[in-house]
Amino acid sequence: MAQLQQAENDAMPVQILQQLSQTPYACTSVTQQSTRPGNFVYRGVLAQPLTLQNGGRASSIIIKHSTDLAATYRDSPLDIKRCIFEESLFNSVADFSPPTTTTTVIKAPRLHLYNRQTSSSTQVLEDFSNTTGFKAMLFSPNADSLLPQSSRTTIGRNLGSWLRSFHTWASAPERAALRAQLPQDDPMRKLKRLLTYDGFLRALENYPELLEGHKETLETIRDVMIKEFEKLPTEGDENLGLIHGDFWSGNILIPSTGWREPPPSDGTNELFIIDWEFAQFGHRCYDLGQIVGDLCERKVYNKIDTGLAVMEGVIDGYGELSDYMAFRTAIHVGVHLVGYYNRRPQRGPWVASPEAIVAGMTAGRDFIIKGWEKDRKFFEGSLLASLFTAK
Ligand SMILES: Nc1ncnc2c1ncn2[C@@H]1O[C@H](COP(=O)(O)OP(=O)(O)OP(=O)(O)O)[C@@H](O)[C@H]1O
Ligand SMILES: [Mg+2]
Repeated sequence: MAQLQQAENDAMPVQILQQLSQTPYACTSVTQQSTRPGNFVYRGVLAQPLTLQNGGRASSIIIKHSTDLAATYRDSPLDIKRCIFEESLFNSVADFSPPTTTTTVIKAPRLHLYNRQTSSSTQVLEDFSNTTGFKAMLFSPNADSLLPQSSRTTIGRNLGSWLRSFHTWASAPERAALRAQLPQDDPMRKLKRLLTYDGFLRALENYPELLEGHKETLETIRDVMIKEFEKLPTEGDENLGLIHGDFWSGNILIPSTGWREPPPSDGTNELFIIDWEFAQFGHRCYDLGQIVGDLCERKVYNKIDTGLAVMEGVIDGYGELSDYMAFRTAIHVGVHLVGYYNRRPQRGPWVASPEAIVAGMTAGRDFIIKGWEKDRKFFEGSLLASLFTAK
């Protein structure tokens, strides 16, 4: 299997150059950006620069290619209905203009081309060149100059408020036709379930002592949450709707020059939301809980506070939460934190010690159980206190 995957990987640049050669997106070279199984991401240098809708010029594009073979590694073979939905989503979301401040612009990439074939699909996307992943910048050695301390809550607030507006926009009657294109049996919903509620108990089972006295409750929570994935996209529920589905700080890009406070006199600060493959019908807490969990993960596992100011901003920017949504989000944060067991780095500066892993898994487990029990007192004294503060 690994050999097949490697062979597919090696052949991909030539195949992509060939596929685009007769289109306005013909490239002279492509450079790999990511090799997540089932997803090949490249930056392509255009043979001829493009004129953009806003009159600007682009000399490069992003190419995301999925193949049936690669997709089977992640147990979600290419689904034609899914491809049609993704194309419509890109076209709609590019026109979504959230009520951003005059000093910040947050954008999703425009889709230039969506090439669907029987066993593969290729997206050609607007390249936000000269950008860096927000997570990488936030935890880089020069974070203090690129992201001044005073700017971090502001950035978080902008992201939280963008997320709230996106959820509202995506559930508006005007988007009914888009939502109707979501496949009933959406492979990305299955994958999301697999990576979250299907898997958290299995991760905890590596530490039997963490399950003592809690196993039954955790099994009940898992079973109830898994049912949520069976709700049909048409079912009305103020907490469910079209979501981004992979909203973490690695899927947020920021200009490599960093954030300017005050913003540059000749423009605005910009943030870019990428990687829409997981967009699906789901609980809005999957987005809010994922970004909150992501931003507090290094506090929980590595005792590093860096993400917390941004996290507080996100919670503040997302705005008012019902009690139900606050507890449900706390549960999702817990699931995300437990999921670290499978995502955790095996080498490099962010390796957590065995003791830190147990402590982090315990924190995640407690968020899940206390969220389920609606234990407000517990949360008021926790890392997630601001989820429970009236806005
Ligand atoms: N529109 C874009 N503009 C600029 N860079 C992009 C764009 N889309 C993707 N990238 C770059 O490619 C990387 C991978 O893209 P993306 O997150 O969409 O795919 P992925 O399959 O999730 O990959 P990974 O698992 O590495 O995050 C991004 O982290 C970013 O560096
Ligand atoms: Mg990504």
